[in-house]
Amino acid sequence: MTSTNDIRRSFLNFFASKEHAIIPSAPLVPHNDPTLMFVNAGMVPFKNVFTGLEKLDSSRATSSQKCVRAGGKHNDLDNVGYTARHHTFFEMLGNFSFGDYFKEEAILNAWTLLTNEWGLPAEKLTATVYHTDDEAFDLWKKIAGLPDERIIRIATNDNFWSMGDTGPCGPCSEVFYDHGDHIPGGPPGSADEDGDRFIEIWNLVFMQYDQSADGERGDLPSPSIDTGMGLERIAAVMQGVHDNYDIDTFKALIAASGQLTGTATDGANQASHRVIADHLRACSFLIADGVLPANEGRGYVLRRIMRRAMRHAHLLGTDEPLMHRLVGSLVAEMGQAFGELGRAQPLIEETMLREETKFRQTLDKGLKLLDDATGEMAEGDTLPGETAFKLYDTYGFPYDLTEDALRNRGLSVDRAGFDTAMEAQKAAARAAWKGSGAAASDDIWFDVAEREGATEFTGYTSTTGEGRVVALVKDGTLVDSISKGDEVIIVTNQTPFYGESGGQMGDSGMMSSAEGLSITVADTSKPLGRIHAHHGKVDAGEVCVGDTVHLDVDAARRDALRANHSATHLLHAALRNQLGGHVTQKGSLVAPDRLRFDFSHPAGLTAEEIAVIEAEVNAEIRGNEAVTTRLMSPDDAVEAGALALFGEKYGDEVRVLSMGRGADKPYSVELCGGTHVNALGDIGIFRIISESAVSSGVRRIDALTGEAARQWLVRRDDTVKSLAALVKSSPEELSSRVSALLDERKKLERELAEAKKTLAMGGGAGTSGGNEAEIIGDVKFQGQVVDGLNPKELRGLIDEAKAKLGSGIAALAAVNDGRATFAVGVTDDLTDRYSAVDLVRAGVEALGGKGGGGRADMAQGGGPDGAKAGAAMDAVKARLKD
Ligand code: ALA
Repeated sequence: MTSTNDIRRSFLNFFASKEHAIIPSAPLVPHNDPTLMFVNAGMVPFKNVFTGLEKLDSSRATSSQKCVRAGGKHNDLDNVGYTARHHTFFEMLGNFSFGDYFKEEAILNAWTLLTNEWGLPAEKLTATVYHTDDEAFDLWKKIAGLPDERIIRIATNDNFWSMGDTGPCGPCSEVFYDHGDHIPGGPPGSADEDGDRFIEIWNLVFMQYDQSADGERGDLPSPSIDTGMGLERIAAVMQGVHDNYDIDTFKALIAASGQLTGTATDGANQASHRVIADHLRACSFLIADGVLPANEGRGYVLRRIMRRAMRHAHLLGTDEPLMHRLVGSLVAEMGQAFGELGRAQPLIEETMLREETKFRQTLDKGLKLLDDATGEMAEGDTLPGETAFKLYDTYGFPYDLTEDALRNRGLSVDRAGFDTAMEAQKAAARAAWKGSGAAASDDIWFDVAEREGATEFTGYTSTTGEGRVVALVKDGTLVDSISKGDEVIIVTNQTPFYGESGGQMGDSGMMSSAEGLSITVADTSKPLGRIHAHHGKVDAGEVCVGDTVHLDVDAARRDALRANHSATHLLHAALRNQLGGHVTQKGSLVAPDRLRFDFSHPAGLTAEEIAVIEAEVNAEIRGNEAVTTRLMSPDDAVEAGALALFGEKYGDEVRVLSMGRGADKPYSVELCGGTHVNALGDIGIFRIISESAVSSGVRRIDALTGEAARQWLVRRDDTVKSLAALVKSSPEELSSRVSALLDERKKLERELAEAKKTLAMGGGAGTSGGNEAEIIGDVKFQGQVVDGLNPKELRGLIDEAKAKLGSGIAALAAVNDGRATFAVGVTDDLTDRYSAVDLVRAGVEALGGKGGGGRADMAQGGGPDGAKAGAAMDAVKARLKD
C-alpha cells in the first residue's frame, strides 16, 4: 500500500524533477491576505504571484497546502462525518506555473504522473474541459489518447475556476476517476453525475484572466497554471478504497479514537469517530498556526469545530475529555511532514483540554434542554430559534452544533428565529450598557453617536486640523458650553487625535481657538469604538457646541507611538519567522515610551532566539522601506472573497498595513487601524528588554524603540562604565576582571576556611577559652572558640582533637552571626565517667539554648548567644571538676 505520506512526497518529487521549487505549505491563516479567513486552496499563497504583484525566484512551484473549509462561503463543516469526502481540513497538492508552461505541459505532467509514475489504469480516467476549450480537448486526445467520449465538454462554471468574485481565474479541466460500476453514478455532465462513481481527483486551471471588482476581466500578465488535487482523495484511489475515511491516516486516527473511548468504530458510532478524526486535524493545525478558541472571528470557527467534536466524543460515552489524548496519534501520522504540529503539541493539548473541560460543564444540561424541547417532535419538525439561541447563549452550543445534534432525527432549526433572538439580545445589551465609571456614562455616547455619527479621524496624514464641537460632557452630563477651569470631554466632528484602540494609547495635545480658548488634552478615548473623546482641562477662554476649534496633537509623542506601533508589527513578523506560524498576537500595548506584545508560544524564548529576533527587526528598520497602507470598505473586502470577515470587528474601513520587504512579499502584512511610521528607518532602533510568561501558552515581550531605546542603552553603558571604574578595569575587560575577582574570592574563601580549621586545631588570634590542653582533675581538656568556623567542620575537628589528646575531652564552639554551635568529644576510655551529651547540654545552657544530643563520645548542640561561648567552655570545665 502507498501511504498518504508517500503520495505527498512522490507528488512533490515528481514536480521537483520537472524544475518546480518545492514550497512548504503556508500557514492556514493567510499571511498575505488579511481579508481571507483561512487558506482554502493551494493557490491562495501564490495569488499575488499570478497577478504579477510579487515575484518568486522560480517560475514553477509545487506544494501540498494545508486547507480549512469551515467558515464563510466554503463551509464543509455541516457535512463532515456523514459523507465519504467532506473534510474541514485537507491537503491540496498542486503544481503552479507563473507565466512559464501552459496547457500542454500541464496536461502532459498530470497524465504522466497519474498513469506512468503512479500506474493508474488509463481506462479508469476521464477528463472534462470547458465547452469552448478546443485546445484542451485536442491536447487530451493527443497526449492521453483518450477517446472523444471520455473528454467531456462542460458549459457550466464547474469548468471555469475563479478564486473569488475577483482575482485570477480561467477555464479548467478536471480529471475524474471511475471507482467502478458497483457504485451508482454517471460520468460528469450526465444526469446522474452527482453519484459517487466518478470522483474528481485533479483540477487543472488554465489561469488567464484577472477579474476586477467592476466586472471587467483583464488578462493576467501571462497565461499560468494552477492545479489542485485533494491528497485524501488520491490516497483513497491509490489505496484501493472508495471512502476518504478509509485511507491510512484516517484509519489510524479513528482506531486511536476507538481505542481511547473503548467503542466500536463502525455502525452507529461511525459518524462520531469520523467527526473526531477530521476535527482533530483541523483544530490541531489551526492551533499550531496560532488560532485559539474565542467568541468571534477565526477563534470562533475553531471553537465551533472543537465543540462539535467534543459533543461526538460525549455521544460515544466518554466521561473524561478525549480530544487532547488523540493529539499524539496525529503527530505520529503527520508530524514528520508538518514540523509545526510537534512543536505546538503542548499548546494544542493544553488548549483542547481546557476547552473540553469547560464545555463539558454545560454540555449535559444543554443536551437535556434539547431533549426536553424536542421530545414530542417528529421527523421534519423545526426547533424554535429561541431554544437554539438559549442553547448558544447559556450552554455554549454553537448554532451548527444544535443542527448537528438534531440531524439524525430529521429535525431542523429555525435559523431566522435564532438570528432574531440574537439581534434582540444585542439590542438589550445596548440598552443595558452602563458606563465604564468614567465621567460620562456610555448612554451619552449612544446619544452622541446616533445624532452625530462616528467621529472622522484625520490623523493618519496629519497631527493638526480643525473640528466642529458636537458634544461637551462635564461631570457626566451633556452641556452646551464650558469655560476656564472645567474638566471636560470634548467631541468634535473630526479630529487628528487618535482614540485609544487596538493596543495603541490615545493622543494628547492642545485644543485652541482664535477667541482665546486653550484646552490641554491629556488623553483621547474611543467610546463605542466610533467616537473620539478628548479628555482635557480648559486653561483659558470658553467654547460652545457648534464652535470650530483648532486641534494640535503632541507630535513628538505621536511619533514615538507610531514608531512603537510599527515596531510591534515587525516584531510580530520576526516572531513568526523565527518561532513558526503558530505565533499570533494575543494582546499588545503601544505606549509612547515602550511597547508590549503578547503572543501564543508554548515555551520561553532562549537568549539566542531573542537576539536573532531583535537583529531581524533592526535589519528591517535599517532597510528603511516605505510603509504602505491600503484601504478597503468591509463590503469591498467581502466582494474580494472576504466572507472571511465573519464576526471580526474592523470598523468602517479595513486598513491593510504592509511593511518591509521579504523575499517575494512584504515582510509584514496586517489589518490595523493604528498610526504608523512613513518609513521603517523612522523607528530608529529596536531593543527587547524582557521576555516573560503571561499565562500558559502565552508569552510577553517588552521592548523600546528610538530615543527610549537609545537612553536605555546609554544607561546600561553608564552602569557598565561605573562598574568598570569600581573594579579598576575598562568596559571591554570588565567581564574577565570580574571573573578573576570572583575566582580570587573563591580562593580566599577556601584559604580562610583552612585557616579557621588550623586555628581550631592549634589556636591563635580570635580564639578564647584556651588553646592548650589543660588538666582538670585527672582529665585532659582542650576547649576552643572559633569565630566564623563552618559548623559542619566541628565533628571532624573534635575527632582530630580527641586523637591528639589520646585520652581526654575536647570542646569546640563555632560562632557564626552571633549564634554558637557547640560540640564536645570524650575519648572512649572516659565515656564511663563523662557523657559528651551531658557536657554539651551544660555548654548549650550557657549559650542560652536548650538540649543538644549525640552519643557518649560525641555530642552537639547550639544556642543563640554566641558571645557566651567562653562561658560554655567554663560550664563544661565546671562539670569536670565535679
Ligand atoms: N485552485 C483550484 C482548486 O482549488 C486548483 O480547485
